[in-house]
Amino acid sequence: MHAFFAPGRVNLIGEHTDYNGGYVLPAALNLGTWLFVRKRSDTRLRFGSSSFSKVVDVSVRGITYDPADDYANYPKGVVKEFQKRGFDVPGLDIFYYGNLPNGAGLSSSASVEVATAWMLNHFLNAGLSREDIAVLSQTAENAFVGVQCGIMDQFSVAVGQMGNAVSLHCDTLNYRLVPLQMSGLSIVISNSNKRRGLADSKYNDRRRECEQAFLELQKCQSGIKTLADVQSNRWSQLEGCISDSTIRRRARHVVFENERAKCAPRVLREGDLQRFGQMMNESHISLRDDYEVTGLELDTLAEAAWSVKGCLGSRMTGAGFGGCTVSLVQTDAVELFEEKVRRAYLNRIGYEPSFYVTEAGDGVRDVTEEVAR
Ligand code: GLA
Repeated sequence: MHAFFAPGRVNLIGEHTDYNGGYVLPAALNLGTWLFVRKRSDTRLRFGSSSFSKVVDVSVRGITYDPADDYANYPKGVVKEFQKRGFDVPGLDIFYYGNLPNGAGLSSSASVEVATAWMLNHFLNAGLSREDIAVLSQTAENAFVGVQCGIMDQFSVAVGQMGNAVSLHCDTLNYRLVPLQMSGLSIVISNSNKRRGLADSKYNDRRRECEQAFLELQKCQSGIKTLADVQSNRWSQLEGCISDSTIRRRARHVVFENERAKCAPRVLREGDLQRFGQMMNESHISLRDDYEVTGLELDTLAEAAWSVKGCLGSRMTGAGFGGCTVSLVQTDAVELFEEKVRRAYLNRIGYEPSFYVTEAGDGVRDVTEEVAR
């Protein structure tokens, strides 16, 4: 029996910029998915999970998407990607145990995918790098599950390091680690407990809207390769190139959010956490008004957070349409923060949010020895 762990992630800033070739600043969490595996003597793949009662049992040959298999479609997609690359996947019994809330925008699916890919990389001696594992896992989600997600989640889950965020340029996949030296401050995740299904959300619509914006902008400014190539200081000259006002707002979000995500590592390095907090707030407002992916639950959480003394900034994190916010809070004000946000949310929404005080953790890894101890 072997055991592997892949974390979830929280994105600090740079939302809906990844599939536009821009910058993101996520951090791996210390919450995530444990994968336990043993080889079988036949060619069956059996997937079990602590959060889904059915055992999914398929043959390694002829793997197909089946909505009834729920989460197991993610690892099935990963197996398929290894097979496409010519690897002979053996029969396996795999069990997943996770402590990430599902569908909460903390990348539980990327965590399952990357854990599976890391495990297969190990068993098949495939020699894939962490970056390769991230790209393979994203391809599985795009091609097999049909969600056109960007690379941010899988990448941060694969390369994350304790105490650091990952500043990633999603067009080139160049990245660097950004130390989160925030003494006296805590990263608080507030879960709206409103579930979000990426596949049935408006996520793919936003991608199409961005493609349309890019095509129109490209006619005005040749030489841009992605929407995020548009510089924010050129926006006032270029915005008129986009004929539809909704599409224009979508593009404006991407251009200015990308600027924020690009500057964020410098702001953090300089220790200007007040400024970083303001940038988080600006990000939320842009996602609310221009990108329109927040909704009442996330807006209620963010607004309640903004009113708490000791909260430097707060924004939705992940795809939106439900899920979580991330807030930067003075550690000695966390209790007050939770109390005030809980009360405001309960009053307006009618049920309670959940809170997680988190730290940036390590990326995917083998934990067989740790688990055996
Ligand atoms: C989801 C996707 C990511 C990214 C975010 C929005 O988490 O999986 O690729 O697009 O939404 O920033």
